Parts: sequence; C-alpha cells; structure tokens
Amino acid sequence: MTPTRTYFLAPLAGYSDLPFRRCCRRFGLVYAHTPLLDAGALLHHDSENREILARGDDEPWLAVQLMGCRPDDLRQAAAILNDYPFDALDFNMGCPVRKVMQRNAGAALLKTPELALDCVRVLRDVVKKPLTVKTRILSETDPDATVRFCLALQDCGIDGLTIHGRLPQRIYAGPVAMAVIKAVREALSIPVTANGGIFTAADADALATGSGCDRLMVARGAIGNPWLFRELIQGLAAAPTHAEICAMLLQQVAGMVELYDEERAFLAGRKIILSYLCGRGYRRRLRAQMAIVKTMAEFLAVFRQIEAEGPLAATDGVSDTPDLAGHRSDVEQPPATDGVSDTPDQHVP
Ligand SMILES: Cc1cc2nc3c(=O)[nH]c(=O)nc-3n(C[C@H](O)[C@H](O)[C@H](O)COP(=O)(O)O)c2cc1C
Repeated sequence: MTPTRTYFLAPLAGYSDLPFRRCCRRFGLVYAHTPLLDAGALLHHDSENREILARGDDEPWLAVQLMGCRPDDLRQAAAILNDYPFDALDFNMGCPVRKVMQRNAGAALLKTPELALDCVRVLRDVVKKPLTVKTRILSETDPDATVRFCLALQDCGIDGLTIHGRLPQRIYAGPVAMAVIKAVREALSIPVTANGGIFTAADADALATGSGCDRLMVARGAIGNPWLFRELIQGLAAAPTHAEICAMLLQQVAGMVELYDEERAFLAGRKIILSYLCGRGYRRRLRAQMAIVKTMAEFLAVFRQIEAEGPLAATDGVSDTPDLAGHRSDVEQPPATDGVSDTPDQHVP
C-alpha cells in the first residue's frame, strides 16, 4: 500500500456507471469518472444522458467526462453541467473509436491542436468546477511533441491532465510509454495522472516509477474486478472468494436493473456479468447461459446454479482468459474488509 498515491477510476463507456462505481467504492475508491458524455447528445436530450449523469448521494467524488469538438456545443453543454453535482469536468481528447474520430472528436483532436485548444479555452470560460483533460501521447519515442501540446493545454488554465501512454492507433494494446508521461509530468506544474496497463499492484508500481506520477488511473483492470482497488488502495492482494464474486455480481446487476430498464440492463450487462465469471473457473456451460439472459428471473436462475456450484478446479479446462480484465488468479483467498478510503489530495480536481 502506498498512502501518498491517488487512484482514479477511468471514464469507461459502457462500464463506469453508478452501479459499477458503487462496487469499486466498497474497496476504497474515492475518485471516479462517469462514462463519456457527448456534448451534442446532452443538447439533444438523448435518453441515455440520465443514466450517464446519475450520481449516488453516497459518492464522495465524481467527475463527468464530456466529449465533443464544436466549441459552441461544448459551451452550452458545460453550462448545463454546471448545474449538476459533479466535482470536476474532464474533457475527452483520447477516444480512438472510429465513430468518435470520424466526428473529429476524442483523439482526432490531437490532429487539430488549434481546435483542441479552442475547445479547452471555451470550457475554461464556462466550467465553474475544476477542469481536466484526458489525452494520449503524440509519439512513443520523442516526448517533445507531447510535452509542447500539454504545456499549451496547461496555458489554457486546466487544473489537471491525464495521459494515457499509448498512441491513438494502438487503441488499448502495447506497452505504455512511461518516459513520455514522465517528461510531461516534469514539464507541467499542474497535477498529471498516468494511465495505462494497471491490472495489479505491481503494474501500478511500475507505472508510478516509470512516469514519476503519484496519481494513477485504472481502467480495464477494474472491469469485473473491483477488488483491484482493495489491492491498490488497501494493500490487500487477496483474490476475491466465490462468495465475494457472487455478492458483487448480484450487487452490480441489481444496480443496473434499477438504473436502466430490465431489457437494457441485460443488453448492456451481459458482458459485465461475463467479466466477473471469465477466467475464474466457472463452468463454460453456465457462462454460456449467462451470455443470453434477458431478464432478472433468467439471470437469477443461472446465478443460483453458479452460486451453488462454485468454480471448478483450475485444471479442468474450463477456465479462460478474460478479454478485458487481464491478469487474474483463480486461487481462493480469505475475504478482506472493505470500505476504507484513501486520503483525498486537497488539490485533486
Ligand atoms: C470499454 C472501454 C471504454 C472506454 N471508455 C472511455 C471513455 O468513455 N472515456 C475515455 O476517456 N476513455 C475511455 N476508455 C479508455 C480508458 O479510460 C483508458 O484510457 C484505457 O483503457 C487505458 O487504460 P488501461 O490500459 O488501464 O485499460 C475506454 C476504454 C475501454 C476499454
């Protein structure tokens, strides 16, 4: 456990909603982000906005992440968000998904730095809370371009910066260019958060050492594995027990059914259910049944079988590799206590 570190849950479209954040918060997570919210969708009152914007009264700190590339839309969207109870607004300058890039938003803004800076200046004008930017590196080998761009972002008056140490074209694969993040960290006077590749406490140590950052952002490592925060924040490297997995899965699914309607909860939620079950020795047949559940009743019928049966031995050929959650051990460990927070840094945006 490293008490001086601050851990953030990344913005994760399709994942970092209220039910998932509540699971992570049980293990000490304080600083979290909503999934990205499209400025245009906010102005057009899309139905999904309510769910993205949902914040629990029990949440200690939450940043909303905004995405867009039209300064006027961003101005109006940010003005609307000023009335919501968020602790900070983060601007997305790193999303590599084609439909976002085609609209010149997300990581596409790195190709139009003047527009990117205009967007940030507009946001700085309007946003009453701390304003942060989440971006990516511009080169894996030469830190200068990334440093120059980040200095320009700092000059726009932002309060913090997160750098995902991969190029947009790498999507989420490959090593994290820690030296580039480190150069930015050394050049800027605002807080810099390093992001990329944290699946274990050892990964976090490596990123902290390599980037020189004591602010670290966790993304895929927490999917189906909120216990990662127990390891990172509470220093308890215990794999979840079968009972813990069942309890957390049930909590997240129940939260999703409450937040979304039942049909949408399971449409979006099946991949989340599987993220809890994959790689942990649960029988393939039961996982296959989970992959098609449509209602709470169907979910509970399969869940009860999984709960009763538990994981099989790791050598029976049923364990697989989770697509998102990364490294995992199927070794059962005693449960640990939860609910301990890390110490909030006064200037954390
Ligand atoms: C499913 C998924 C959804 C994501 N959604 C967002 C998002 O809404 N906003 C954002 O800035 N980054 C998003 N990201 C990127 C992550 O926040 C993070 O930068 C990236 O996954 C690298 O961190 P990791 O290696 O720890 O996963 C997403 C990544 C994944 C895998």
